[in-house]
Formats: sequence, C-alpha cells, structure tokens
Amino acid sequence: MSDGKTGQIDNVMHESRLFPPSEEFASKARVKSVEEYQQKWEEAKSDLPAFWDKFAKEELHWFEPYNEVLQWKCPDAKWFVGGKTNVSYNCLDRHLGTPTEDKIAILWEGEPGDQRTLTYKELHAEVCKFASVLKSLGVEEGDRVSLYMPMVPELAIAMLACARIGAIHSVIFAGFSAESIADRNNDAQAKVIVTADAGWRRGKELPLKAIVDEALEKSETIEKCVVLKRVGNDIEMKSDRDVWYHDLMDAASADFPATPLDSETPLFILYTSGSTGKPKGILHTTAGYNLFAKKTFEWVFDHRDDDVYWCTADCGWITGHSYVVYGPFSAGATCVMYEGAPNYPDEGRFWEIVEKYKVTILYTAPTAIRAFIKWGDQWVDKHDLSSLRLLGTVGEGINPEAWMWYHKKIGGEKCPIVDTWWQTETGGIMMSPLPGAIATKPGSCTRPLFGVVPGVYDDSLDEVGTNHGGMLTITEPWPGMLRGVWGDEERFKETYWSKVPGKYLAGDNARCDEDGYYWIMGRIDDVINVAGHRLSTIEVESALVSHPLVAEAAVVGRPHEVKGEAIAAFVTLKGANDPEEARDILKKHVRKEIGALAVPDDIRFTATLPKTRSGKIMRRLLRDIASGKEDVGDTTTLEDYSVLAKLREEE
Ligand code: WT7
Repeated sequence: MSDGKTGQIDNVMHESRLFPPSEEFASKARVKSVEEYQQKWEEAKSDLPAFWDKFAKEELHWFEPYNEVLQWKCPDAKWFVGGKTNVSYNCLDRHLGTPTEDKIAILWEGEPGDQRTLTYKELHAEVCKFASVLKSLGVEEGDRVSLYMPMVPELAIAMLACARIGAIHSVIFAGFSAESIADRNNDAQAKVIVTADAGWRRGKELPLKAIVDEALEKSETIEKCVVLKRVGNDIEMKSDRDVWYHDLMDAASADFPATPLDSETPLFILYTSGSTGKPKGILHTTAGYNLFAKKTFEWVFDHRDDDVYWCTADCGWITGHSYVVYGPFSAGATCVMYEGAPNYPDEGRFWEIVEKYKVTILYTAPTAIRAFIKWGDQWVDKHDLSSLRLLGTVGEGINPEAWMWYHKKIGGEKCPIVDTWWQTETGGIMMSPLPGAIATKPGSCTRPLFGVVPGVYDDSLDEVGTNHGGMLTITEPWPGMLRGVWGDEERFKETYWSKVPGKYLAGDNARCDEDGYYWIMGRIDDVINVAGHRLSTIEVESALVSHPLVAEAAVVGRPHEVKGEAIAAFVTLKGANDPEEARDILKKHVRKEIGALAVPDDIRFTATLPKTRSGKIMRRLLRDIASGKEDVGDTTTLEDYSVLAKLREEE
C-alpha cells in the first residue's frame, strides 16, 4: 500500500488507541460532540455556498456586499463575487472600538531574550504607518513585495501593510540562499524587498542584508530595499536603492484607511516545491482565504478570548501566514511570536516560553517534538507547563510514539492533540480533530473540517472503499483554496486538476478507516518532507548537476529519526576526485543554490545510476539503498547497482 517512502506507515496502520476529549474540555468547546460535528458537516456539505455565506456576512467586514457566494468553473473559483473587503481591516480595524483593541496581539520574544508586546491598537498604528511607507515607495495595488525577514513583529506588520493597500506579498523564508531569493523576485517580478540587517539564529548573526545584496545583483525588477535594524551589525547601504525602515516609519502617517479590495484581489504568493526543479508561486486571494483562515483557527484551536496561543512556525511558511498572522488576528487572539531556535541558549527554551507567557495553546511540528524527545525529559521537567490546554501538530504525519510523548510529557495527559493535515495550496487546515468533539487516534488527522469534502481514488479513478489507500482529493471547492500558480496557468491545471478530473489532487496518498478517520500515507510525487519543509528531489538534483564536478545526480528521501526524512544523494562525478573533498564542495554548493535546508545528509558517489531500460532512474531502489533496506555494502559500485537493478526489473 505504501511505496515505502516513509517509515511510519507500518506503525500507523495498526494503531487502535482512542483518546476521547475529556468531559470538561468538551463541555466548554464550540463543538461538543461527534454527533454535533457530524450533523454540521453534513449540513455544510448539502449546501456549501449557504454554509459559508452565513460566516462571511457575519465575520468579515464588507465595504460593499457580494452578490454571489461562489462561482465555480473548475479549476477557477471565485468566492464572494462582487464584494469588497480588506484582510488588514478584518485583522485590525474590526477590533478597534471593542475591548479587543487593548488586548495584546503579539507577545514577542527575540532569541537574545529581548521582549516586546503590541496591542491590537498599537499593531494597527504600525501597520497603517508601514502601508504609508509602501505607498511612498511607489507600491500600488497588485505590485509584488518580497519579504526576507527574521521572525520579528515587523514581518507581520509588513504582511498586513501589503494587505492593507492590496499589494501582493511574497514571504521568502530567511534560510533560503541568494539564488533562491533572486529566483523568487524574478518569477514574481517584485518591486520592493523588505529585509533586516541580520537575524539571530543559535546565537549567531544570520547576515540577511548581505544575502539580499547578492540576490539583488540578479533581481532586475527590485527598485527599493527596506532594511530593518534588528541586530546592529555593519552592512552596506546602497544610496539610491536601500532605505532604513526606522527612517521611513518616523516620517510616516498613522492615518491610512484600508483600501476596499475586490474579494478575489491577490493577497499573497508563497513559493513551494512541486515535482519539478522550479518552485511554484502558490496564489491566495482576499476574502475566501481570510474567512477560511479565521474559521479553521477558531474551530481547530477552539479559541477563547483568554487564550495565549503560540504557533511556533516561521512566517516563511504557510503555517505562519494562516496561523501566526491571518487566522489568529482575524479572531482577535493573543499570539506568542519567537524569533529563534528551540535549543538556544539551551534545549529548554520552548518550555521556558510556555511557562513565562502561560501559553494555553501550542501548535508545533512533529520534527520539533522528535528533537525534544531526543534532547531528554529533563529540559521539560524544569518548567511548569500547567497552563497548556490544547496541543497541535502540523507539517507531516506524527508517529504514534512521538504523539504519546507529546500527550503525556507536554500535555500532562489532559490536553487534546489536534493533528492538522493541510498544505500551502489549501490555505488552511482541511482535516483535524475538533478537540471537543472528535476522539483522537495517534497518527491520524481524523476527519475533515466543515465544508471540506475529501475523496480517495485509485489509479483507475474509482473511489476506493474503507481502508484502501489511494490518491487523496478534495472534491468540492472551499474558500481557502489556491487560485493559481503565479504566471503558470498550465502548471496549475496540470498539477492539481487533471489527474482526477474536476477534483483537487492533494499529492498525498491516504486511507479512510471504518470510523471515517483519514490516515495520510506519504506523497504520490517526488516531493520529500525534511523537518516539515517541502522539497522536490528534482530541485536538489538540479542544484547538484549545476556544479561542474557533477555528471549526474539522483536524490531521494530516507527515513530520519528527527527530521522525518533526510536527503540522500547519489552522484556520478565527471572525473576522479577525493570523495571527502567533493562531498564538502557539493554540500556548500547546494547551500548556495537553495539554502541550508536542502543540503543532503548523505552524498554517495557512484560510477553509474541504476536505470530501467527506458532510462528512468530507479528511485525506489535508491530509496531502499539509502534507507539501508538493500545491503550494498559501504562502497557502492557499478556492479552492485546493475545487479540490483536487474533483479528489480525482473520482479
Ligand atoms: C504536505 C504539505 C500545512 C502546513 C505545513 C506544510 C504533509 C502536512 C500533515 C499531517 C501528514 C502532513 C503532506 C502535505 N503534511 N501536514 N498533519 N499529516 N502529512 O505545508 O509545505 O505545503 O506541505 O505536508 O504531505 O501534502 P506544505
């Protein structure tokens, strides 16, 4: 059933433990029972536009009302047609004049331990000012703005300021290389980039501005670079191009009304890896995305007014967009934001933060949980985690062992765990337990949220039955769905809407069990998931073969204790080289081409790569070799591969 890509499948296939919500939790929750969930899910499914219409009317601000909830001509969806709203208005202005205006929106902590809080009113003022700044730099509705920043409040401020004027932000995770930044700037034709002098990472300075300088040598469309002073390191400022954030903000007006924007105005582009070498710019728009982020935030995290919510994701990923910024702020939540690494100055940093800010909801990734397990319980034991009432995970499947540790050690056996399945493309959470209603099974993301209708299909395009694996699709449109791939209509249609005609192809395999619970079983394509970060094997291969030493390269994922998957590369060199030296050169090269997150853990040199008669690289065989399933010894030779390849072909 599984293609053996993840080592977790065997585990989760036999998981039968059931953890119902406590009566205490359920009694206070928004959705209190499985019956209530089921009834509401059916109701939504029976009339999706009517279901979303009610929330949109009540929970978003409309400068002008929409006249149609949904126009759907696959694959093009238009939600809340004809209406005018503004995401920044919904996140900020809507709270003004209510008790929420003085509530803390951001509880920020820098890696060195500096702290800052911003109330909704203060955040609103900062966003208005930065919107004025963007305007003064010539940014207009529809222009693209790249954001390459550390996890500081100014990143959220910049995102919301773009939203306020209808500019499209493209956040580039601060771990990407100059090459990757330039690629994204050029693909989006970005006009302005916002960055910082540097960021802090494990006590070291991450020289963001210097990296941007290099990227801008190859980014022809960028006119201005706004630089936030975060660290105070020496940087070069190019006089006609670079401007200090604080200089501009000092002069900016805080009076900047939100622009009424059409419901389908693009809100952001976020680049993510697919099955080709080139990351694609996933496009999300205004009203539907906003509503979906808000409602899913409220349902899944069962958010209450007095919660202190902490999503540990970086805004460089979709989780940071939907569940650090847009969902929580629309709901008026108090959010912890932390700049640095979980193990700085020591491995107890996360738990220190939970204790200090009395965090009630914690949303993090399985890879982090596995790292905590490895670091040892002593770091957790030093801190009082009794404020926690709900835990969440995202990014990859969580293996039951890690789930149990999270449940016992962090949740004190009293906090429900929401294992949330979704993607950059879906805009928000698609499947997850509702914590007061759905009993959890470790390793399952359980059931679809309201308004989400999944379907699992086999290769003959027949819907599979209970407990059969197949391709996971979403069969009906939902408000947070992607609206396109930036500049590539064909790729949008081809990747998501053609394999199972008329339905959204998620790219994951899944199975639905006898209780209607979904189990995600790994990707159907060449996407690998390294520490919750999505990478295409071909992207890494392209980086490797762009080096003059390399003749050919094949990259696969192999199971890794902490990261989930690690990157294993098989490389054919053009000439004789010292392997140690070549390995080092190639690792540096990949770091330069893509970023540290794409550097292979293993690089093996080989005279040839195993191929089928038609010339296709036998990735499955390489995966088995990389994960130690095929014993080929330490030095892999041409003979080993050809013999193995032959055996496999005869299977
Ligand atoms: C891919 C999407 C969604 C935000 C972070 C990742 C995998 C994600 C789960 C989960 C099993 C999961 C899937 C998906 N994934 N969450 N709870 N259980 N797998 O977003 O970078 O767009 O990656 O991550 O394979 O397709 P992304």
